[in-house]
Amino acid sequence: MEKREQLYEGKAKKIFATDDPQLLIIDYKDDATAFNGLKKGTITGKGIINNKMSNSLMQMLEKAGIPTHFVRELSDRETLVKKVSIIPLEVIVRNIAAGSFSKRYGVGEGFRFDEPTIEFSYKNDELGDPLINEYHAVAMKLAAKEEIETIKKYALRINEILKAFWNECGVTLVDFKLEFGRLSDGSIVLADEISPDTCRLWDSKTGEKLDKDRFRHDLGGVEDAYQEIMRRLTENI
Ligand code: TMP
Repeated sequence: MEKREQLYEGKAKKIFATDDPQLLIIDYKDDATAFNGLKKGTITGKGIINNKMSNSLMQMLEKAGIPTHFVRELSDRETLVKKVSIIPLEVIVRNIAAGSFSKRYGVGEGFRFDEPTIEFSYKNDELGDPLINEYHAVAMKLAAKEEIETIKKYALRINEILKAFWNECGVTLVDFKLEFGRLSDGSIVLADEISPDTCRLWDSKTGEKLDKDRFRHDLGGVEDAYQEIMRRLTENI
């Protein structure tokens, strides 16, 4: 596999072409941003952890029947993935109130839902990734109605699988963000990453935050939290 030109540089990853038009290489950086890029920083070693964690979790999901973009880990920071056209929706699943949900609705952080919730944000940095409903997403042709149904079905199944796994690690899966893409045949696969950048993960006993909220809210111990959550994953996978 030959790594070719850089196609894109995002906030936390770079994307490279390969000699195969259907395959891309993701290269994970240590850069961290929050609040739509307003806050910037570095989390040393994050790129390696996010790469390896995302790959482990995507392989777990594949085994459980969820199609993903994952092909093969190439190095500490690089992974070969299937090329997809990203559906510009952030798919957020919540089990417990936190973050923007708590802020928007005045529901205290830690309030446990009887059933998981799903919401969508329109991936658009200029607009600040606004909340969007399914009707608006279909009207804007971001995704077809059937695609949204498939995405919701996958998202809830992913939540069941990840919740059970993190529970074994002594970790509560509070919420997370997924992105999906279309392969050249139109089928929908899970893309992007699943990592402490994109999930809220709390120690089940102490409630300690083991995710990017430590960076977002200057709680300190950011690198230690990423290492601790990776250690829990490695011990239980
Ligand atoms: P929120 O409560 O800020 O809406 O975040 C919900 C989940 O989505 C949380 O696990 C963090 C994740 N997330 C991202 O992955 N990227 C983002 O840009 C934002 C705002 C949240």
